[in-house]
Amino acid sequence: MSATLSLRGVTKRFGGLVAVNAMDFDVMEHEVLGLIGPNGSGKSTTLNLISGALPVTSGAIALRGSPITQLPAQDIARRGIARTFQLVRLLPSMNVLENVMAGAVFGHRQRWGYEAEAVAQTMLEKVGLSGRGHMAVGQLTYIDTKRVELARVLAGEPRVVLLDEWLAGLNPTEMEVGVALIRALRDEGRTIILVEHVMDAIRSLCDRCVVMAAGAKIAEGTPADVLADPEVIRAYLGDDDA
Ligand SMILES: Nc1ncnc2c1ncn2[C@@H]1O[C@H](COP(=O)(O)OP(=O)(O)OP(=O)(O)O)[C@@H](O)[C@H]1O
Ligand SMILES: [Mg+2]
Repeated sequence: MSATLSLRGVTKRFGGLVAVNAMDFDVMEHEVLGLIGPNGSGKSTTLNLISGALPVTSGAIALRGSPITQLPAQDIARRGIARTFQLVRLLPSMNVLENVMAGAVFGHRQRWGYEAEAVAQTMLEKVGLSGRGHMAVGQLTYIDTKRVELARVLAGEPRVVLLDEWLAGLNPTEMEVGVALIRALRDEGRTIILVEHVMDAIRSLCDRCVVMAAGAKIAEGTPADVLADPEVIRAYLGDDDA
């Protein structure tokens, strides 16, 4: 079986800092891959390289076997990779529906007009925001801004969804809602990379995990296996506690 997304030797330097160091991993169709690791280990940078927000220093990224390594971000979105940001990014001058429609217009299927609106309405329903399309994004609660961002990503009808700490900042009740939303995506067979610090969510949502520390992959396997790996535990606790 060939990978939906593959990274080979992917490296990103910021001056003297190697933020991502020769990362190799595959994401298979319908797989939820957890990308985990301590703060500053290179997870968001890896998503930025995949989505084209940052150019890679070296290495290769392929979507369904086609190289996407040096493509501009908008071309990568068109090919079907959509992502959320660690800090929610919505367009404040547009209402909820228009923000989600932007995902449809600039996404994989490039929908326009009524078609874009229909897709956006469907996705608002999916994330639990039907009837709120007219609202200004500034009026939304925090979790609802997260829902809008997820709806925007889904409206692009992507082949691969990248979620960067989408559950961060939610209270325990909202967390349950958030996990259920991601589980619903999983159950409909989406291909997802989930960057997350919430280990219960990792355990319950991911088929497999890749663990990063200081830019490099230090472990790969089922959530249960990697979270019991002494090297992973050491990376999370920090060298001082090892
Ligand atoms: N644009 C940038 N310029 C310079 N250094 C950067 C840039 N982006 C990230 N870094 C550095 O690269 C390293 C990896 O950062 P990254 O944001 O990928 O970590 P992360 O695993 O997502 O961490 P967190 O869990 O805190 O979100 C860090 O040392 C960070 O300071
Ligand atoms: Mg990050």
